Amino acid sequence: METKKLTRVDYIFRPDNTCMDTLKKSLQRDRDEIVLELIDSGLKGRGGAGFLTGLKWKLAKEAPGDIKYVICNADEGEPGTFKDREILDRVPRRVFTGMALCGYVIGAKEGFLYLRAEYKFLAPKLKTIMAEMNEEFKKLGLDFTLNIRYGSGAYVCGEETALIDSMEGRRGEPRNKPPFPVTEGYLNKPTVVNNVETFVNCSIIMAIGAEEYKRFGTDSSRGFKLFSVSGDCSKEGIYELELGMLLSDFVEEFGDGDTKAVQVGGASGFCVPRKKFNQTIIGFEGIPTGGSMKIFNSSRSMYHVLHNYLEFFEEESCGQCTPCRVGCQQLLKGIEAVKSKKRPPSYLDELVKLAKVMKVAAKCGLGQSVGNAFVSIVDNFREEIVY
Ligand SMILES: Cc1cc2nc3c(=O)[nH]c(=O)nc-3n(C[C@H](O)[C@H](O)[C@H](O)COP(=O)(O)O)c2cc1C
Ligand code: SF4
Repeated sequence: METKKLTRVDYIFRPDNTCMDTLKKSLQRDRDEIVLELIDSGLKGRGGAGFLTGLKWKLAKEAPGDIKYVICNADEGEPGTFKDREILDRVPRRVFTGMALCGYVIGAKEGFLYLRAEYKFLAPKLKTIMAEMNEEFKKLGLDFTLNIRYGSGAYVCGEETALIDSMEGRRGEPRNKPPFPVTEGYLNKPTVVNNVETFVNCSIIMAIGAEEYKRFGTDSSRGFKLFSVSGDCSKEGIYELELGMLLSDFVEEFGDGDTKAVQVGGASGFCVPRKKFNQTIIGFEGIPTGGSMKIFNSSRSMYHVLHNYLEFFEEESCGQCTPCRVGCQQLLKGIEAVKSKKRPPSYLDELVKLAKVMKVAAKCGLGQSVGNAFVSIVDNFREEIVY
């Protein structure tokens, strides 16, 4: 399979003062042409699920209805992810340009930034920039207004339909899908929900063109992305890297020389042990990540790591569906029982079965992904859970 060398890139944090020129040029283009360019670029959503962005915009564009909406998902609640905060702090105009472009393409007149409650400190600055850009849109003849809405600290509200429910003033709980937001989203109108970094990538593609963008990444994972690097590492922080690298190269660059595992994709992602570093590609053909890369060295107990993730999921489960509500509690109680020898080691096999059932039976991505960390940690570090 195609892999890429670890390569640092510098597109996302370039000064964003040329964004309005990019938007102006894009507004002279045909909407379908923009959609085709985005599809051609291969850009997949940077929020984790990896849906083709151009296709999402196409579906919303083609959905019947005069009123449509654009929402930027800045809920950023995945443990270990902190790149959207940095984008909003340093290059907000690039995000808002992407949203305006989306509004133009799908025919939406309003766009909302759904900002994580913990990031409210950014709001005064963001509101000022929004007001300036709203005026600039008018001058360009674009009927599009940016607004801001706030989350209240629930991880599940990062799930796009729970986010929409919370914006509508209800308790944020994931909806049944279909229908998807592209046809029935905010106020039941066609809505595009994209991650902060996805909108940034859209404005970059409009500026540099799909051909240039496609030079980066692999067939399945085009482009570059931001990685939030933390844990036992030599240089924690946010790095913009080409997609498609091997985890072994990543660890060589960022590990502390004693890395025993990397949790790729946060609590809802996968734990990769050292022996698999050189077989693991960071990208949609291997292990995708919304950006969280947490490095663990030999001083860490993987029992404590898993316990910590399960406590997080038990706390954040919205409780709407039984497999997730009860499953999270049982997985947590289960590993505690094995650790304290109230249950035999073989009980872990029953828990793995439960985690696999949750993958197919839970209603939303939260419950469906609990098994990722659970199974990968139990499979690779069983002795640390048992003893
Ligand atoms: C529990 C849960 C939390 C999520 N949190 C976020 C988040 O904080 N930010 C985000 O962009 N997507 C999050 N997502 C994914 C969104 O549902 C959605 O797929 C994403 O916003 C789509 O944007 P994209 O196509 O640009 O990635 C979450 C999903 C789940 C299941
Ligand atoms: S999987 Fe969990 S978070 Fe998702 S709807 Fe069910 S209970 Fe709520």
